[in-house]
Amino acid sequence: MRDILPPESARWRRFNTVFADIVEAAGYGQLIPPLLEDLGVFTRLGDATDVVTKEMYDFVDKGDRRVALRPEMTAGVCRSFAQHRPTTPWKTYYTGSNFRYEKPQRGRYRQFDQVGIEVLGADDPHVDVEVIALAWEFYRRLGLQHVRLIVNSLGEPGDRARYVEALRVHFEAAGDALSAQSRETLTRNPLRVLDSKREGDRAIIADAPRIADFHTDEAAAHFAAVCEGLRSLGIPFEVEPKLVRGLDYYLRTIFEFQGGTLDSAQNALGGGGRYDGLVEALGGPPTPGVGFALGIDRTLLACDDEGVFPPEPRALDAFVVDVTGGCEAILLTAELRAAGLAVDRGFENRSMKAQMKLANRSGADAALIVGDDELTAGTIVVKPLRSGEEQVTIPRSDLIAHLTGTDRDDR
Ligand code: HAM
Repeated sequence: MRDILPPESARWRRFNTVFADIVEAAGYGQLIPPLLEDLGVFTRLGDATDVVTKEMYDFVDKGDRRVALRPEMTAGVCRSFAQHRPTTPWKTYYTGSNFRYEKPQRGRYRQFDQVGIEVLGADDPHVDVEVIALAWEFYRRLGLQHVRLIVNSLGEPGDRARYVEALRVHFEAAGDALSAQSRETLTRNPLRVLDSKREGDRAIIADAPRIADFHTDEAAAHFAAVCEGLRSLGIPFEVEPKLVRGLDYYLRTIFEFQGGTLDSAQNALGGGGRYDGLVEALGGPPTPGVGFALGIDRTLLACDDEGVFPPEPRALDAFVVDVTGGCEAILLTAELRAAGLAVDRGFENRSMKAQMKLANRSGADAALIVGDDELTAGTIVVKPLRSGEEQVTIPRSDLIAHLTGTDRDDR
């Protein structure tokens, strides 16, 4: 688990703001679910999911309840829906930390942040298209050029079950030719064997049955409508028949956004899909659902690799350098901040030289210098720190107009 320090932390905040602006403009409202849920909320995600069986931060609290730090947000959103029964379609977005006991490496952490959206109560394939298009727009807004969108459909519940069975038969027939790890995966979740990157497994996976051959007409029509909608928006995508997702609740449409620059094990910047049975599993009425989550940590690494959406230096309008030892710096900073300016100051009555060093380091546009002469005369020395302009001495009463440029507009 890491600390996120300035200026990186400011970039995280901008990331969240850009995301919120996009999804709020599309009618999504923010849900702030708790970080901790009853363990049962997550165990219903399926015992074939590593996230649930191996990676969960679960414990018994002081009231003897089995609880867990959330490993993802979708289950909490569905629990919230089942509890509050809002009118549908319920369009929510969220942002926050999740916890998975994974092996930490670049782009994979035990505490990581996500932004995401979920739409509950709408079956229409056009909702799937809207959800994917909003993520696409967000990547575009960040400036990322190398994001690849892959989509697939896991079909209706019956299709998925028949497909999983066919995969089981196929992989079991391969016997020891399949790697020991994949044979172990096979016993828990045959779908995940398709994810194996092991050289020896490749040929067996290439020959595996295709999900599309198991789609009912209904599932095929839903998926065709999603693809058609994406095409109509000019969003480039590839159908990847071997795409399965790490979580077990998906049905019908699934998708993933892959970055071009991270290691392949960490190149999923985000993903999502339909999970039509999840609300019901959490005690709510049968409710279709679709959404995505994008990893903040990984997306920002991809931004670094592509040289876009950089951290920005702190923007300060002014830094007050007061060497008079009285209350002038207190008053001046308070007045300027009240006028909407971003202002910092030196403390501990340090020397002019020491305070000027701080002012230069602060990134402020100007130092506002107050010595005994200025205090007596009611003036301030404004020393531009970045523009290379000459310093000027102005009446204190003109300072706000001077700094905001309104004196120039008046002329
Ligand atoms: P997920 O694929 O498990 O899906 O996670 C989504 C994204 O979170 C990943 O693509 C990745 O960027 C980021 N992520 C996951 N684990 C880590 C980690 N250990 N370190 C850093 N980043 C990580 C979900 O969580 C689903 N709830 C998505 C969804 C929403 N499906 C439907 N609605």
